[in-house]
Amino acid sequence: MLKDENMFELSDKDYHRIKDIIYNVIGINLGDSKKELLRTRLSKRLRALSIDTFDEYYNHVTKRDQSELTHLFDAISTNTTSFFREMEHFKFVTSTVLPALIEEKKKKNDREIRIWSAASSTGEEAYSIAMTVLEFLRPQLGWNVKILATDISTKVIAKVEAGIYTEDRVSTVPKEMLRKYFRKGRGELAGMVKLKDEVKNMVYPRRINLQVAQFPFKKEFDFIFCRNVMIYFDKETQLAIVDKLYRHLKKGGYLFLGHAESLTGIQTQFRYVKPTVYIK
Ligand SMILES: C[S@@+](CC[C@H](N)C(=O)[O-])C[C@H]1O[C@@H](n2cnc3c(N)ncnc32)[C@H](O)[C@@H]1O
Repeated sequence: MLKDENMFELSDKDYHRIKDIIYNVIGINLGDSKKELLRTRLSKRLRALSIDTFDEYYNHVTKRDQSELTHLFDAISTNTTSFFREMEHFKFVTSTVLPALIEEKKKKNDREIRIWSAASSTGEEAYSIAMTVLEFLRPQLGWNVKILATDISTKVIAKVEAGIYTEDRVSTVPKEMLRKYFRKGRGELAGMVKLKDEVKNMVYPRRINLQVAQFPFKKEFDFIFCRNVMIYFDKETQLAIVDKLYRHLKKGGYLFLGHAESLTGIQTQFRYVKPTVYIK
């Protein structure tokens, strides 16, 4: 007989052991208050694996099957996002970032724009950037715009790859853009919308852990969105990540953080522009 989800007991010892793996690998510090959340979310995994106890699950993830780590992180990550979330950032990109960037690139005869949506979740952020850039550049031709969308969770990266959203998810997309850049789903995609290739082809989804020692990029980015993820990390982890982001941003490039985040108290070379916006 299958166990009911609520029947799995999570001892303090197992909570701390699993919490430590999460902190050491992805930098998220669950603290002491998330035991119930972890128990509920991971109970589904135990059930799927026909594992009876969290002690056995700990052994499974550490000794038997390290690929289970991906499911562990998927289970605990919070993926809340939306199209054009924190609209002021997109307005700032249009009014300030892109005009200067395009002018500078034209002078250098450089036609490539590289943007990074770090911790992109299901892609709404990266696709909102793509539409913002398209709106700005039109009708100029000949620009190669690449938006890297990365996240620790394979589940969300698969959604970026699909580029398909339920109709309620696009309620925050300006009507004109919705008409221009999305196609209405039919048949089995009824009630859904799909991004047109023009937008979809600008976004490159990839699984990347912000906690890795070094990011695998050779070229610098023109600007980086790293929003609503720092909040889950402690100061030490934030400092290490901000430092790496700085190194991968070109001089004069902008860093955007989430509405509740700031670099206050973090030693960094970034210069403050306005709340949640920094420049190298
Ligand atoms: C709340 S969402 C933010 C999405 C988007 N940036 C926004 O502001 O709407 C946070 C995302 O960070 C991802 N994340 C958490 N820890 C991470 C890590 N160490 N490396 C990369 N992504 C991580 C989660 O999987 C989740 O999708």
